[in-house]
Amino acid sequence: MKNGYELFVRPPLFSLDAETAHHLTIELLQKASHFDPALRVLRSFQPSSKPKTLFGLNFPNPIGLAAGLDKNGVALPAWAALGFGFIEIGTVTAKAQPGNPKPRIFRLPEQQALINRLGFNNDGADAIAQRLAALRVSARWPDVPVGINIGKSRATPLEQATDDYLYSFRMLRDFADYITLNISSPNTPGLRELQEPEKLSELLHAIGNEAGTAPKPLVVKISPDLSNTELKAVLEVCSENGVSGIIATNTTLDHSSIAPQLDQAGGLSGAPLRDKSTALVHEIAARSTIPVIASGGIFDAESAAEKFQAGAQLIQLYTGFVYRGPQLLREIMDSL
Ligand SMILES: Cc1cc2nc3c(=O)[nH]c(=O)nc-3n(C[C@H](O)[C@H](O)[C@H](O)COP(=O)(O)O)c2cc1C
Repeated sequence: MKNGYELFVRPPLFSLDAETAHHLTIELLQKASHFDPALRVLRSFQPSSKPKTLFGLNFPNPIGLAAGLDKNGVALPAWAALGFGFIEIGTVTAKAQPGNPKPRIFRLPEQQALINRLGFNNDGADAIAQRLAALRVSARWPDVPVGINIGKSRATPLEQATDDYLYSFRMLRDFADYITLNISSPNTPGLRELQEPEKLSELLHAIGNEAGTAPKPLVVKISPDLSNTELKAVLEVCSENGVSGIIATNTTLDHSSIAPQLDQAGGLSGAPLRDKSTALVHEIAARSTIPVIASGGIFDAESAAEKFQAGAQLIQLYTGFVYRGPQLLREIMDSL
């Protein structure tokens, strides 16, 4: 049976082009974030709580907002009101950038999937730090953990990637409960090479040296397209550098399940990614003690349970939330 969002909200949103629908939704949630009566309405969707402590943070429930939905951190109070147990904003880059030419988000409703090649369109670390500073002095800072996901600016050569990450890290760390290093988005040329042991080691070392007096948990977000050997190397480097968590996974470049006439260049997310990311979660939990945050193809209670069974401590939603709306949180929580 379809839920209220699927019956009444999704059809008008899906009649718009995907990016227009996205902007409209974010704009509404941004407005709601400044307006208490609207936040009270959003709270009516809240799922039951099931507190969990991980890397020293208290999560009211294990369902988080995945990076990319609120890249600029404009609607934190609204996400918390909807009942997300944690919110990850970004990807933020050191420099503001427009991203790739449009169109760059594509819906595949039959496959319950999206393909995107946004390319880290975002306001940049300076503007986002200012926005978060303003939110912090208001009374509206959310009472759930906030992660900030950082990535490399497109204009920065790969050899200078560390400096680019360091800039965003320094600008944003004070606002974050944890920082995610995104080294796995497929839409910034060369970015995924940062998963190579030497490059990852350099990056983790540099960020680790910056930790300061109040170090923040560092989380690494990886690609589902890593081979077993590559994954093993990533895990080793992460362990050596005291990484607090791994997000498995980002979108995939494996489009083998998509018919050629529907295909588009970019990262594939949603149902076709489900098994591949679950397999990675399983592999990481089997090989390492680093906690895993699962992301990829979570659409219902069953696909969420599968991630926990594979060893995930927390989960994150993106495409499932676009297709199933806020009631998905309650559906998952009621089943846990
Ligand atoms: C339109 C779109 C934009 C995204 N942007 C980002 C991003 O900026 N940074 C990031 O780390 N992941 C990004 N992702 C990946 C999601 O956070 C998530 O890891 C991935 O889509 C798999 O989860 P899902 O199947 O629930 O969508 C994006 C995904 C989509 C569909």
